[in-house]
Amino acid sequence: MSPSILNKKLPFHCLISAGPTREWIDSVRFISNPSSGKMGFALARAAKERGMQVTLVSGPIQLAKPEGVKVIDVETALEMHRAMEDHFQKADLIIMSAAVSDHRTELTSKRKMSKDEFPKSLNLIKNPDILKTLGTKKKSHQVLVGFAAESHNVVESAAKKLKQKNLDWIVANDISNKEIGFCSDQNEVHLIGAKGNCHQISLADKGIIAKEILDAIYPTWLEKAH
Ligand code: C5P
Repeated sequence: MSPSILNKKLPFHCLISAGPTREWIDSVRFISNPSSGKMGFALARAAKERGMQVTLVSGPIQLAKPEGVKVIDVETALEMHRAMEDHFQKADLIIMSAAVSDHRTELTSKRKMSKDEFPKSLNLIKNPDILKTLGTKKKSHQVLVGFAAESHNVVESAAKKLKQKNLDWIVANDISNKEIGFCSDQNEVHLIGAKGNCHQISLADKGIIAKEILDAIYPTWLEKAH
């Protein structure tokens, strides 16, 4: 990356989401998923190393905070949505790598429900699609990147989401392969662009994948910055 080009627009603001969300049922039980947040944290570190001002909206995970990055801790999808909206306008590059719970329960209890009180079935409410909402608000200078965890038709399904959510890029990974993705330190992804371009990034540590993702989407920032 050429620092002379970046310098024109410094500070470049990058907003990243990472980790799972937790949708509480009562004070001890929640709906969530095994996302470790490693990919989002690696992206935050790589963006910081490239001189960007980075805000990281993080669900509950067990990772050390990247140095020099502003971290906003959230738990629920609604909290993540609010934090992303609050920082969206100032951001030039927005990467939504969080594994947001698609649903939350209709009724929640602030205290622990006993076995007998606990409902036999839970009524679920759909959470907002944060990325799709941001896609409707995207300005011409902003680059919006999403992730897609797919178990089949990986590239086709991700390309569909890229269009539906008005993204510039989508990072697709095959979750049917247990060696990569979610909790692993490594990943292997397809990066699909709105212009029909597609890069495959082969198996590597998430730190390397993060750098390759930033390299691949760099021409889009340049284009949009002018
Ligand atoms: O549609 P799907 O959930 O597969 O899309 C994944 C992408 O959408 C990810 O970038 C994820 O962070 C984002 N997402 C979101 N809000 C949701 C669900 C997913 O922002 N409620």
